Amino acid sequence: MEHVAIYPGSFDPVTNGHLDIIERGLAIFDKVIVTILINPNKQALFTLEERLEMLHKSMENFKNVEVDTFSGLLVDYAQQKKAHAILRGLRAVSDFEYEFQMALMNRRLRREIQSVFLMTGLRWIFTSSSIIKEAARFGGDISGMVPDCVKTKLEEKFLCKLG
Ligand code: COA
Repeated sequence: MEHVAIYPGSFDPVTNGHLDIIERGLAIFDKVIVTILINPNKQALFTLEERLEMLHKSMENFKNVEVDTFSGLLVDYAQQKKAHAILRGLRAVSDFEYEFQMALMNRRLRREIQSVFLMTGLRWIFTSSSIIKEAARFGGDISGMVPDCVKTKLEEKFLCKLG
């Protein structure tokens, strides 16, 4: 039986912290499906198409990864994809309460799907897409924090906004 995990998120944009969790997930699961939540209520910097393109490019050297999008309940999507687990990364302690709440709700909705938490690498403990966007917006150097294609996209985006 193939063990499949879903790694969901906004990925606005994908960061090296996300890649770290995906790599760790691939050491445990046969396949990881990285999926972007289509969420009209969350104001994103990048369009869904841009986020998908950046994810695809960042995953070029990864084997056994599928990139996708979803809307609705995560557990329904997981079921539909025949996945047994939802993968989430834990960074600082502050992630715990939110993740715990979400995992318990997901379990209540579908008991057979397990939530698996992987501890992020120390380097990524305080990384988030917002903090990276904030640094990039004001010309901060974000090399090494995001894949190269994301760095280029962020620079283009903020150059456009300033110009
Ligand atoms: N490295 C770096 N940053 C990370 C990270 C990591 N390993 N893991 C998470 N983050 C950051 C993200 O970049 C994001 O940053 P931002 O807020 O600055 O943009 C932040 O942590 C939130 O993470 P994200 O994974 O994008 O979570 P989310 O809260 O936007 O979405 C879903 C979480 C998609 C799993 C959740 O909303 C969901 O399942 N929605 C569907 C409906 C549903 O089924 N809900 C649950 C039951 S009701």
